Amino acid sequence: EKAGYKHFMLKEIYEQPKGISDTISGKLSLIKGEAELPFDFNKIQIVACGTSYHAGLIGKFFIETLSKIPVSVDYASEFRYRDPLIDSNTVVVAISQSGETADTLAAVRLAKLKGAKVIAICNVIGSTLTREADYTIYTYAGPEISVASTKAFTTQLTALFLTALEIGVIKGTVTKEEEQKYIDELIKIPSKMEDFLETEKKEKRIRQLALEFYMAKDALFLGRFVNYPIALEGALKLKEISYIHAEGYPAGEMKHGPIALIDEKMPVIVIAPKDRVYEKMVSNIEEVKARKGRVIAVTNAGCGEIRRLTDRIIEIPETDELLTPFLTVVPLQLFAYYIADFLGYDVDQPRNLAKSVTVE
Ligand code: M6R
Repeated sequence: EKAGYKHFMLKEIYEQPKGISDTISGKLSLIKGEAELPFDFNKIQIVACGTSYHAGLIGKFFIETLSKIPVSVDYASEFRYRDPLIDSNTVVVAISQSGETADTLAAVRLAKLKGAKVIAICNVIGSTLTREADYTIYTYAGPEISVASTKAFTTQLTALFLTALEIGVIKGTVTKEEEQKYIDELIKIPSKMEDFLETEKKEKRIRQLALEFYMAKDALFLGRFVNYPIALEGALKLKEISYIHAEGYPAGEMKHGPIALIDEKMPVIVIAPKDRVYEKMVSNIEEVKARKGRVIAVTNAGCGEIRRLTDRIIEIPETDELLTPFLTVVPLQLFAYYIADFLGYDVDQPRNLAKSVTVE
């Protein structure tokens, strides 16, 4: 059932191109069928936990950029214990792979009590979340067995991006031509990801980096803009399956504290595709190098400034800057996977964790 892969996690990482394509097909046929989301609203509140929360953070960029509607993103477990300012003009988007996460369900129930409409983004048909939500957008990742979430995440990004586009078209902030341009870019993501994954199979670049770093005690992940949540996600993957202490940070915050951690032992994974904050990320790499930190850079081909600073480079294919998280997350998933495997841990079933967290 692992289709020749050593673990479900690796199989699921490799299933991402298909999951994304299937989610695009599912959502596009819905858009054609129903024309629009069934609610009127002026504010969006995203609630989720763990990796789904990280997808939500990126969803905020998608929705605010494309539809100009303000979006707040909360951990479901925080949302439910404050007095959230939501009402019938708010749409709450609850993101969950399993649809059974206790805190996410509690957040949804609170939102409904306050009169908000709820859209679920969910991978499990008929789960509790989909039964309680007013409307469900399914992700078509297929069953995710590994506790560490991978393909659920990139299919959630797909659903969020298409939803953001749909709202943009309805609100008139995205023209039909722009919508087509974005969809064309999105449709290219699965094959770009496939190329990347196949190259890794042959060249084992990330596996090699994992071999170099698996004895590390700590790791720092830095990103900005849409790739700040990817820094959080890279750190979460590494801690949950390899038990290495890791932190994800917005790169601009480095000089406000975490830079003190950097010495010649510290691995720093810098996410720096060619986008609006690329130059800033190059400066961050310089700062880390000046303190002798060991930099791994996730970037695009070309990027000579980075190449001059580190030879630990992972090259990802180019895409629209908003879509870069689809491609930057994959090397981080593989990096965490290989490290956990080298350390001999039970990759699919890490200690103390359950696939769906049905307790509060
Ligand atoms: O099923 P959900 O998406 O609601 O699960 C949320 C989190 O429990 C989940 O993403 C968790 O953080 C993963 N183990 C991360 O890899």
